[in-house]
Amino acid sequence: MNGSAEALSALFAAAQAARERAYAPYSRFRVGAAVLDEAGAVHAGCNVENAAYPVGTCAEAGAIATMIANGGKRITAILVLGDGPALVTPCGACRQRIREFADPTTDIHVAGPEGVRRSFTLEALLPASFGPDNLA
Ligand code: THU
Repeated sequence: MNGSAEALSALFAAAQAARERAYAPYSRFRVGAAVLDEAGAVHAGCNVENAAYPVGTCAEAGAIATMIANGGKRITAILVLGDGPALVTPCGACRQRIREFADPTTDIHVAGPEGVRRSFTLEALLPASFGPDNLA
């Protein structure tokens, strides 16, 4: 189902639902993310901020933690959804988090409330990256 329109709409719906539940009282910038795992399951997360600002977590980190907790092993696609005129591309730390479980060709879809705005590969957002193989 990776790459299919069905998968993409499942990712979009899951990210949208998670975004509704985002805890973002400080930035007021709600983000939802959803990952598709190797078995076709979708796992979602939202940003969870904290009064101690640096402790807050991104939506992508939540979605990945949920995937791992539910037994998913690999990210075969990810969608990030946020509001505003600019693209909500994953932050640097989240690109590295995605890198741990994805391939260079894995799609990272960036969406607004109206739908997908742009799609990147992981390699495009994190070239010449360091990953598990670099430790071998
Ligand atoms: N944020 C995410 O959750 N994911 C992104 O890809 C970009 C930024 C969150 C972090 C913080 O809670 C808020 O958006 C503003 O930066």
